[in-house]
Amino acid sequence: MRLPRGSQLVVASHNVGKVREIKALLGPHGIEPISAGDLGLPEPDETETMFVGNAELKARAAALASGHFALADDSGLSVKALDGAPGIYSARWAGVAKDFSIAMARIERELRVAAATDYAAHFTCALSLCSPHGEMQSFAGEVHGTLTFPPRGKNGFGYDPIFIAQGMDVTFAEMDPAAKHAMSHRARAFEKLLHSGIFIESL
Ligand code: IMP
Repeated sequence: MRLPRGSQLVVASHNVGKVREIKALLGPHGIEPISAGDLGLPEPDETETMFVGNAELKARAAALASGHFALADDSGLSVKALDGAPGIYSARWAGVAKDFSIAMARIERELRVAAATDYAAHFTCALSLCSPHGEMQSFAGEVHGTLTFPPRGKNGFGYDPIFIAQGMDVTFAEMDPAAKHAMSHRARAFEKLLHSGIFIESL
């Protein structure tokens, strides 16, 4: 699979925070991203049990519906003391209103109920790229760290205000967006995509 500079690529997500980060990662590589939301593409149900399965399902749906290459991200936060929850249900824990203060409060409550002392957690990102003919390649990245309560910081999205990456003392939401982009699970999956040689100068 090869994607020449200047190609249009559908970012198969309706999550504004995620689309913003993916566009920032794609920017320097001469790829023109359009979001699935801007094209009015429907959001498929995430019926798989693993991040990569859901990323592939979203990429395939957007590529086949748009006739363009499509890149999908399925990601989430896994908390060790909660047996990996919310994991693939990270978005769903925020409810229909997508209110992450509710989801973060639920994690804090469940840790308290479990009398957990270990606040280790990690973000996972599965990135899948699908061609208009259904050819697929997937890449994964993780970033490990610990949780902190109450939430801190205004940048980023989702669970960023409670996540402190290993070696840092501020949350993702307190970091400058460029600094988060340089070390995030999404950046790590993206590095693998770039090194795969899929993005090329021209055909
Ligand atoms: P999905 O991949 O659309 O199912 O949604 C993943 C969910 O995981 C997002 O809605 C966020 O809640 C969470 N998530 C994924 N990546 C990040 C991140 O970089 N920061 C904070 N939360 C994230």
